[in-house]
Amino acid sequence: MSDPIRLGLIGTGLAVEKLHWPALRQMPDRYVVTAFADTSPEQAARFAGYSGVDPARHHTDHRDLLARDDVDAVLVSVPIPLLYGIARDALEAGKHLLCEKPTGTDAEQAEAFLAFEREFPDRVVLIAENYFYRDDIRHARALLDDGAIGKLHLMAYRRAGQMVPRAGRFNSTPWRRKPQYRGGVHLDAGVHDIAQIRMLCGDAIAVHGAVQWANSTIDSPSDLALNLTFASGAIGNYTACYSEVPVPPEPNDMRLYGTEGVLVLSGPEHERRVTLTRADGTTRTDVFRGIDNGYYAELCDFADAVRHGGPVVGTIAQSAANMRIVLAALDSAEQGGVVALDPTADGGVPLWRPRGAEGLFDGLPGERECSKE
Ligand SMILES: NC(=O)c1ccc[n+]([C@@H]2O[C@H](COP(=O)([O-])OP(=O)(O)OC[C@H]3O[C@@H](n4cnc5c(N)ncnc54)[C@H](O)[C@@H]3O)[C@@H](O)[C@H]2O)c1
Repeated sequence: MSDPIRLGLIGTGLAVEKLHWPALRQMPDRYVVTAFADTSPEQAARFAGYSGVDPARHHTDHRDLLARDDVDAVLVSVPIPLLYGIARDALEAGKHLLCEKPTGTDAEQAEAFLAFEREFPDRVVLIAENYFYRDDIRHARALLDDGAIGKLHLMAYRRAGQMVPRAGRFNSTPWRRKPQYRGGVHLDAGVHDIAQIRMLCGDAIAVHGAVQWANSTIDSPSDLALNLTFASGAIGNYTACYSEVPVPPEPNDMRLYGTEGVLVLSGPEHERRVTLTRADGTTRTDVFRGIDNGYYAELCDFADAVRHGGPVVGTIAQSAANMRIVLAALDSAEQGGVVALDPTADGGVPLWRPRGAEGLFDGLPGERECSKE
């Protein structure tokens, strides 16, 4: 085993506290945090407090962190409008880059992100789209690749819930409530759902979107209804509703209808379920408990690429492709017509597997249970 990667954190807010640190702290063989930067002294003190990283390793200005020789790679986790500039600074400073999604604020910044692949070919860049690494989604993808439902013809996916600011939750951050990026919550959270859709249905070639502004607590559309045509010929519908008022419990599941079966992804974060119903009526349900939504696996992919070379699954191009569908939906909503998309050059999202492992979940946290009925 080589030495752990010396990681600098730029931005130590909610995503680091709730998502990245719980994974990082389990991986001392792969990562050691040697420095962190946050413009907020309170936030820096909070991070030092729960992580145990020496407060003397804090910088207010991320450029001071980037000047350090004991930082090989950085995790950039700052508000969306700041991602691009800090990502560029990190690459120019010679660091490998794990950068939060999305790839910028709009189509122009997504193009600028994509240019990194040409400008900095010797650096590892991973855009943190954790859904590419989520166990239940990868399991569903493996079933689809094995032909479990025959040919997919229809996808139906709905996400509806209340979203109002609550202290300590993502939706309380001021930069989310007055978003300086196109589409607001649909770019911030919606790209994850689109990642799931692209993992399981492939690339979309036509998009028709419509939006509503029905939540006075966020300065962005609250509702998005999206019809999709996929390169495979399948069709699909995605509905997202971030309601101001409480909504009754909803399944919020994704259903994939095929010529030989139906696959349903359902369940809350603490218990994800993938249920296959075959044409003969038999079913199989796989339950995933205590998985971390892919953050640990994402960090594994990044570490492997830094140490051993080789491509990552969460490339800039893959995240930009997710973002492109959200932006096309917004274009469609504004123009009132269907927007055509070219399929991505690399033909969809590859299925990530742990390096050197036989199974899909080897070495990853969480419990998996397979029931046959
Ligand atoms: N992958 C996911 O599931 C997921 C979930 C939530 C957030 N995110 C992403 O993570 C990023 C951060 O989101 P968050 O919820 O943690 O926001 P946040 O506001 O809680 O945290 C951002 C932190 O960045 C700091 N900061 C601001 N400007 C800075 C600068 N110039 N230099 C250093 N630090 C600076 C802030 O002080 C704050 O501590 C966003 O890009 C968001 O899209 C991803």
